[in-house]
Amino acid sequence: MLSAEQKRGFCDNGFVVLRDFKSGEQLAALKARAEKIAAAHDFDASREVFSTAKQRGPQADRVQDYFLGSANEIRCFFEEKAFDRHGKLNQPLAQSINKIGHAMHDLDPVFDGFSRGDTLADLAQDVGLRDPQIWQSMYIFKQARIGGQVDWHQDGGFFVTSPGSVTTFWFAVDDATLENGCLWVEPGGHKGPLRQQFIRDGRKTRLIDLDAAPWPDTNTAIPVEVKAGTLVCFHGLLPHYSAPNISDQARHAYTLHVTDGVCAYAQNNWMQRSKEFPVRGFL
Ligand code: FE2
Repeated sequence: MLSAEQKRGFCDNGFVVLRDFKSGEQLAALKARAEKIAAAHDFDASREVFSTAKQRGPQADRVQDYFLGSANEIRCFFEEKAFDRHGKLNQPLAQSINKIGHAMHDLDPVFDGFSRGDTLADLAQDVGLRDPQIWQSMYIFKQARIGGQVDWHQDGGFFVTSPGSVTTFWFAVDDATLENGCLWVEPGGHKGPLRQQFIRDGRKTRLIDLDAAPWPDTNTAIPVEVKAGTLVCFHGLLPHYSAPNISDQARHAYTLHVTDGVCAYAQNNWMQRSKEFPVRGFL
């Protein structure tokens, strides 16, 4: 699927940008399905916020359970800035959801179709995944004005395998621009160490520091502005972040996180599947 030059680029830079990977029709179908799931969200039953903010007590346990359970379900998470101080939404529900996660690719036919096929299977082989296993899908809304920043991180810390193998497939559902919070990456940064790991500890999760290497800044990072339909495929150690969406349009994206089945998947990764719900590949 990839040319020799693209393969070299992936090895040297840690990412490859593939324009027109998905058609307008495929994107429209995925977006319509995501909006339908969001519109059907039971707002009163769960007001979980997708947030790194610390919470305590029973509320914290409830948020944790909701999050951990999403490994095997389709669940909606809110933008941090969605609510006012009285817990009321500042804007309509459809414009308040941060993301849907994390098992749509296995549970929803539209997401399943979008996430699988020969082209993706070939690409996975080309970037070194011998036995691809799709652990997680996320539909990210990056809402107009309230779509928050996602700080510098490496996806490898969320899906640790031995040896490391996680690879991210990031699909632009809308054009991604500087103004609406496109990805920023540090070319070649995947050659550095894994800095943090997000682990599961019983019913709780936490982020632990592994290496004190500094995160990149805008001197060494570059923005990845891309058109809708583009696939950005990147190495699990590539540092990346995205700025807030300050535009007046949402910026939707869809991601898959994939590991290699020949590598051992860590027992303390936050995402674990039951035997009855095994991870599958692209075919
Ligand atoms: Fe990421």
